[in-house]
Amino acid sequence: MVHQFVTLMSNMFWHVFLFVVSVGWIKQVITTPGINQSIAALVDSNSSLLTWPTHFTQGIVPKPIHSHNDYWREVPMLTAISLGVVSVEADVWQLNGTLFVGHEEAALTPNRTFHSLYIDPLVQILDMMNPKDEFTVNATSRNGVFDIASSIPLQLLVDMKTDGNATLPAVLQALEPLRSAGYLTTFSNNTLTTSAVTVIGTGNTPFDGILALSPRDVFFDAPLDNLNSSTSFSPSVSPIASTDYGAFIGWSGIGGISDAQRATILTFVNDAHSRGIKARFWDTPGWPVRARESVWNELLNDGADWLNADDLVAASQF
Ligand SMILES: *[C@@H]1O[C@H](CO)[C@@H](O)[C@H](O)[C@H]1NC(C)=O
Ligand SMILES: *[C@@H]1O[C@H](CO)[C@@H](O)[C@H](O)[C@H]1NC(C)=O
Ligand SMILES: *[C@@H]1O[C@H](CO)[C@@H](O)[C@H](O)[C@H]1NC(C)=O
Ligand SMILES: *[C@@H]1O[C@H](CO)[C@@H](O)[C@H](O)[C@H]1NC(C)=O
Ligand SMILES: *[C@@H]1O[C@H](CO)[C@@H](O)[C@H](O)[C@H]1NC(C)=O
Ligand SMILES: *[C@@H]1O[C@H](CO)[C@@H](O)[C@H](O)[C@H]1NC(C)=O
Ligand SMILES: *[C@@H]1O[C@H](CO)[C@@H](O)[C@H](O)[C@H]1NC(C)=O
Repeated sequence: MVHQFVTLMSNMFWHVFLFVVSVGWIKQVITTPGINQSIAALVDSNSSLLTWPTHFTQGIVPKPIHSHNDYWREVPMLTAISLGVVSVEADVWQLNGTLFVGHEEAALTPNRTFHSLYIDPLVQILDMMNPKDEFTVNATSRNGVFDIASSIPLQLLVDMKTDGNATLPAVLQALEPLRSAGYLTTFSNNTLTTSAVTVIGTGNTPFDGILALSPRDVFFDAPLDNLNSSTSFSPSVSPIASTDYGAFIGWSGIGGISDAQRATILTFVNDAHSRGIKARFWDTPGWPVRARESVWNELLNDGADWLNADDLVAASQF
């Protein structure tokens, strides 16, 4: 434990994140009106009775929000988790066998890799959320990243930017630390077993390659606008389907939505839900704020399952 703690604190990302979470929590407790001074003193005294093994994400309420371009955030993935955002996206480039993370090739750096930004921190969080002790010896399932809703998986969208047939094997290999610990949602023997992390391939992800995986622990982001094109789209291959809101719907959020635009949203959502698939629209307007919120309201009313957000703070408070 001590060794693990030291390792964590030496990592810059963790340092920032732990600080933000713990300071935020302590401040909240101390400033709650009417709270007894002796409780505040207990907090200050660092009592071991106030913590438990999985308190790391204590009090964070998970929300169906997708963190678009997550790797642009000050602290990728951890910022999203701290706001209760359940879905994050990494653009990956397979170059010389290494997966680099960035929006375009010019943005890549040697140390921003899929391993360093996503896999390693995830393994560290999940090891914390799944302590091995006398209380968990018989546990058969794994806790997710959210302490108050441990059965909710984190959705990790992997947007393959380089050739799909070359990138998929690298992604599968990179996931091994999560796989071997039992943290990946897996379809095997005709059974979908949800675990702490559900990995979805998008971008250049090859559909045939995903379909051929057995057991399958990387899934496929199906085309929400074209689900009728294949009978293979089912939750065991594609738990989620997505489409470009700007291209297929286009309502700016200003003025009223047309009947045809609403009908298209409803058709897409129904095409997904009738197959047991969740619906996501990306490229929704980000500005002005009123327009963005009108679009989010419309999509939620029409049954969309994920809010796509660049501004996570705004989305998490929506
Ligand atoms: C809180 O507990 C940790 C671990 O037991 C210890 O290292 C640290 O010094 C304590 N902090 C305070 C303010 O008592
Ligand atoms: C890939 O390998 C080639 C040949 O060894 C090297 O010239 C190139 O810089 C490498 N590219 C990256 C991104 O590491
Ligand atoms: C990442 O790499 C750059 C240059 O390659 C270096 O300046 C920086 O300190 C590295 N950052 C971390 C967190 O290792
Ligand atoms: C784990 O299983 C063993 C054997 O059935 C049982 O004796 C023990 O009490 C269980 N432990 C817990 C924490 O459930
Ligand atoms: C990927 O592999 C599949 C099956 O081997 C092949 O049909 C497809 O054309 C390949 N795609 C690319 C972009 O090379
Ligand atoms: C799946 O089925 C095979 C053979 O039918 C069996 O050997 C294997 O243990 C099963 N795996 C799981 C996870 O149930
Ligand atoms: C898909 O098929 C269903 C059933 O035939 C139909 O109602 C729906 O409009 C189709 N979706 C699209 C996007 O064309």
